[in-house]
Parts: sequence; structure tokens; C-alpha cells
Amino acid sequence: MRKPMIRSLIVVLAASACSGARVAPSASATAPRTLTSPADRFADSVLALLSLEEKVGQLTMSPAEGLQTGPHVPQGSAAQVKQGLIGSIIGVTGVARIRAMQRVAVEESPHRIPLLFSLDVIHGYRTNFPVPLAEAASFDPALAEADARIAADEATANGIVWNFAPMVDIARDPRWGRIVEGAGEEPYVGSVFAAARVRGFQGAHLSDSASMLATAKHFVGYGASEGGRDYATAEISERTFWETYIPPFKSAIDAGVGAVMPAFSAVNGSPPHASAWMLRDVLRERLGFKGVVVSDWSALEELLPHGVAGTRGDAAKLGIRAGVDVDMADHVYSDSLAFYARTDSALRRDIDASVLNVLRAKYALGLFADPYHGASEARASRVTLSAAHVAAARTAAREAIVLLKNERSTLPLRRDIKSLAVIGELAADARSSLGPWSIAGRASDEVTVLDGLRNANPSMEVRYAPGAHAGGADTSRVHDAEEVARGADAIVLVLGEDGERTGEAESRASIELPFAQMQLAQRITRLAGSKPLVVVLMNGRPLAIPWIADSVPAIVEGWYLGTTHGDAIADVLFGAYSPGGKLPVTFPRATGQVPEYLAHMNTGRPTNPKDKYTTGYNDLSPAPLYPFGFGLSYSAFRYAAPRVSRDSIRARDSLSVAITVSNVGARDADEVVQLYLRDDVASVARPVKQLVRFRRVHLRTGASETVTFTLGAQDLAFYDLHLRRVVEPGTFTLFAGTSSASTQEAHFTVTGDTLVLADPPPRMQ
Ligand code: NOJ
Repeated sequence: MRKPMIRSLIVVLAASACSGARVAPSASATAPRTLTSPADRFADSVLALLSLEEKVGQLTMSPAEGLQTGPHVPQGSAAQVKQGLIGSIIGVTGVARIRAMQRVAVEESPHRIPLLFSLDVIHGYRTNFPVPLAEAASFDPALAEADARIAADEATANGIVWNFAPMVDIARDPRWGRIVEGAGEEPYVGSVFAAARVRGFQGAHLSDSASMLATAKHFVGYGASEGGRDYATAEISERTFWETYIPPFKSAIDAGVGAVMPAFSAVNGSPPHASAWMLRDVLRERLGFKGVVVSDWSALEELLPHGVAGTRGDAAKLGIRAGVDVDMADHVYSDSLAFYARTDSALRRDIDASVLNVLRAKYALGLFADPYHGASEARASRVTLSAAHVAAARTAAREAIVLLKNERSTLPLRRDIKSLAVIGELAADARSSLGPWSIAGRASDEVTVLDGLRNANPSMEVRYAPGAHAGGADTSRVHDAEEVARGADAIVLVLGEDGERTGEAESRASIELPFAQMQLAQRITRLAGSKPLVVVLMNGRPLAIPWIADSVPAIVEGWYLGTTHGDAIADVLFGAYSPGGKLPVTFPRATGQVPEYLAHMNTGRPTNPKDKYTTGYNDLSPAPLYPFGFGLSYSAFRYAAPRVSRDSIRARDSLSVAITVSNVGARDADEVVQLYLRDDVASVARPVKQLVRFRRVHLRTGASETVTFTLGAQDLAFYDLHLRRVVEPGTFTLFAGTSSASTQEAHFTVTGDTLVLADPPPRMQ
């Protein structure tokens, strides 16, 4: 299979080189260009073979079959593949189907150019890991990298070579359903996880059969959608754009990410899919991105309702000029781009540049050598949902769990309890615990909370009652749940949101629990009395649960943990594992408090409950319900005051901070050591605190460890009034500890002149 394809391509290339007969009328064919690598040379010679329509074909991504992840669009046909009019496919699954389609492309299409098969592999392929927000709660980027590696192994074995992940949008508004897909609110965490996930998906070499092309998305500012409404416009100041939203993308690009997807939202009035400033000046020029820009699903067509394109033809021209290489799903490019390009040489140059980006990606993946990228039925059945992968999923799931409250040592539950009541519809909802964006995952593989608790302690009687529908107001089944709870030694109450009620197009106007679940929580709590009662949350966004936080003795943040969800929850509830996760996002007390996040600016009138004329609400405590970085343990940790290596540095110097943490509790356990920074006085207001380093450590009981972090100019810098990236002299405060709200301070001074690390970026357009 493999050799004939290569031969035929080489024959075509050789023939065209000799006769020139197949060389398309292309500006780039004659324009001088510096070819620096075999990939460039190869892509260039393939480009020279293509007609204008075939070039546009390379820029066309078509949905192949039933699975559509956006507004319905017609799927591409096998005939179009055969004619070389489609370059990539989204949404087809199944290795046999993928191989069959690829065979048509590489054996029957005019130039034998392989297709790219793409999918959203957000938190695993068939083996599902915790949703990205939950995985960020592990504060263990090595874990995220390993999980992404497994996801890539399974996906590629099944024929997928292009992944639309990681989503690296910073999100500070829990109403936005897609907060679940990212690493939370802090740019530093977002950057570390972005790079880890890119490394995991792409591996050391894209051509390895277990590596896939990753996509950093959504460039940039989607997470700032107004009111948390999906797809809504975003207003972002220039400084915030560079300081908050850009860093995870920069980190992904520095890690070598092969693709970037622009955001749906118009940012400051400009939809990124039509913004040459965004996609060329910022993405390519300033950030140095060299890969493929793929549109979001039908986002080019959506330039019409955005009001920046009058026709689909205009949208096509705007997109290609802005720098969108591949048109996902809406066939805007294939409808008219070739037509316009015939009389527009600048458009032809843009098309050529985009086709080269696509061809280079195909080359980097090794598809011209093996168009199947090692996918086969045999490999798929060997790696998919393998025991090793499922074990890795359980490790990840355990690490992602955050213990929010544990009064009266309610947890871990005693293993000798005779009967356990498990209450809540979500406890038995396999589809929910898998989490959103699980295209290849199956509910039948899933261990629910109910299954996990039963498995953990087979001699214990487990009785279950759903109590209330997760999303509704019907309280008619609460009574049954009370009966079940009444007869048990301990109660596990699973509350939260249905797994399909978070993710894309799942914004919420209220992040409180729905009425029926609150009724259930109140009645079960009242009935529990002194009986152990644990609330296990299942959710993909911060929930405002002040009543539960006040009234229930033990609360476990269980997110959507993937395939082994219930096992991991049981490991924590029965004490086989001491939770060590921390919140990567602030939990507000009420929806009205949103946005509520750590790295906010101070005001001139910081909150002071004793002074009316200070910032805050007159009907709500100013503090969040649970602060960023918060999470308890079954053990206890003591921190010594942080020690800085130098009290005073020049702006170019670095300094180290040593933080000694001791496990003074009775359990071996993990702790996430956190270091925050504040620039005390600067030419512009700086955040009250921002995370600059963290490390998850495992400490045996009685053991101590000194974690040393080194900080340099990049950590101290900010964008000044002129948007130069600078380090200014003055004092800085470091905060080290177990959460953003529980820290000890150290101080140092930067002396000398202001250091300019970078000139202003291209001004926003
Ligand atoms: C729309 C989403 O915004 C994007 O993240 C995803 O990759 C595409 N649909 C494809 O499913």
C-alpha cells in the first residue's frame, strides 16, 4: 500500500519537473523564496503541481459524516476526495473508515496527496481523563503531558492525526460553559499546561505514529465573551490582551504547536477570522507561529452575521487575507476562492502561502511516507482502552480531586461502615462523569460514583436513590432519597451539573445549583444530623454553593474525571488516596459576584468591611467562597517563611526563593507549593497577587522538602503605559503557601534603571 503511493507521487513530481505540464498558474511558482528545509522544498514542489481549485481543495476541511460539532453543514463526498478537492476531514471516526477514505485520496486523487483526519480529542480518545479544568487542578503538568500522550496514541491508532486541542483560553467567568476545556483563570497555569499538552499530543516528532498535530485555540480572547455567553463579543484592553490572554498561546507556540484556531468572538469589534492584525501581525510576526491556522466550525460564514462580510465571497476573501489557512466545515473557500483568485494575484499569493502551510503539516506528520500514520485495526485494538491507559486515567482522576471541606474528620469514611446511602442522579450517570467533549468515549466503559463505591467495599450495603433530576425543579423523588439516607450509616450526596450542561454552547445565567438539587441537599443535610455526610460535586465550572459550604461537613470537588471517575472518588472517600488537588479557578459565592478572580487589580478603596466607602457589595461578603489554589488534604502541612537568595537585585538578575514545607499530619500525601508575586509600586496598577510558580510534591508523614524556585526578569515584567514590556525598579512581595489565601511573605527590591525587555507590540486593530 505504502510504496505504490510514494512511487506514484514521485513519478508525478518527476514528470512535472521535466515537462512542466502540471504546474498550476501560481504566483509562488515564480516568486523568489528562500527554501530552508526539506519540508519547504517538498511542499513547494507539490504546490507547483496543483491547479487553483486543487489548492483551494487543500484549504478545505469537510465534515465526513453524521458527527457534526456545530451548525449542520453538508458533508464532503468521496467524489470530491477523488478529485483532490478536499484536504482534510473533521469528525470521521473508526480506523477502517479512515483508511478507506485515505486510500481513495492517495491512490485515486490526481496528485495522491493524503488527507488530514481531525477530531476534538479534548481529554482522551476512548480512555478519558479528567476534563482539562480538572486536570489543571492536579497542578501536575507532567501528568497532563502523559495523558495527552496516551490520548494521541489512541487517537492516531484509530486514524486521527490532527487534534483540536489544547484549548488555552484563560477563563474568569464561570457562566461560560467552555471554562471546562481550559486550565482556568491564571495565565501562568494556562501557559504551563498549554506547553505540557502540546508536548504530549505532538511528542518528540510529529512523524512518530503515536503523535498528532495539536491546535492551540481559540486565538484569542474567546474566554472573555461578554456575560459568559458563548460566541459573544469580547472587550479586552490592550494590556490585558497581552498580559492575560496571550501568554498561554505564546507558551504553546514556543512548545512547537502545529496549528492555531482563531476565536469565534469579535474582539474589540474585530472577529479574529477576519483580522490580519490578529493572525498575521500578532500570531505570525510577534509570536513567531509557523504552522497552520484552521478556522473554527463555519466561522468564516459567520463573518456575515458578525457584520463584517456582506457575502460568502467577501468572507472567503477576508479569511484568506487575514491568514486563515484551512476553512472548517462551511465550504466558504471552496465556493468562490478560486473564482476570485483568477483575477487577483495577491489573493493567489495568500492561497499559495496557506497551501504550503498545509502541505508542510502533512509532510511533518510523515503522511507522504505513510498516509495512514501507523493506524490499523491491530494497533487500535492493542492500544485503545488498554489496561495501562485506564490505570493512567485513574492516577489522573485521583490527582484532580480537590477536598474543599472536611469538618469533624468526616473523611475518609470508615471502611467498616455497614451501609452507605448514595444519593443524586449524577451518581449513576455514566455519560455525565465522562464529561463533555468525549467523542470516542463510551458511557459503557465508565465507572460511575455508584459503581466505584460498590467496587471499593463489596461487603458494604450500598443503597441508591436519584433524589432529584440534576437540572430540574421536580422534588417529588426527594422523599425516596430521604428514606434511603435514613437507613444508612453514612451518606454520599452527588450534586452538580449534567455533563452535557457544560462545554460549548452551555453558558449559564446562574451558577447556583438548581432548585430541586438544593431542596435535596437541604433535606438530606437536615436528616443526616451527626451521621457522616459528604457532598461530592460533579461539575465543569465553579458553582456558587454557599449554603452547602456552610452546612455540609465534607465536600469533595470531583469534576468530570473520565473513564475511572467512580473509582477515583471511592479511592478518596475511603482513604486509599489523600486528595492533593487545588482549585485552578476561584469559586464565587454568587453569580452576581462574577467575575471574581485572584489576579485582579486593587482599587483606590480596597475592601474594608468597617468602611462603607470601599469596594464590594452591600449584600455579599467580599471574599470568594473558595479562593484560587485552595484545596485540603487528609494530612497537614506546615510552611516555613519563604527565604529569598538576595534582598536586592538588578532587573536583569535572577533570584531564588526557597520554601520549606513539612508534612506534619498522619498521612503520606501530596501538596502543591505555590508562589505568588506582587509588584508593590509600578507605573501602572498591578494585580494584587499573581501565581508565578508551583510544584506538586509528595511528602511522607514527618518529612520535609525545600522547594526552590528561580525568578528572573520575565517573571517580574509587565506592559507599561506605552505597552513596552518592562521591569521597573522598586519593591516586590512574594507570597508562598498552600493556597492564594494562605501565604507567608518575603520581599526583595529591584534596583537600577527600568529594563525594557520588548518594544511595544503592533497596536491593536
Ligand atoms: C467548535 C469549537 O469552538 C471548536 O473548539 C472545535 O474544535 C470545533 N467546533 C470543531 O469541533
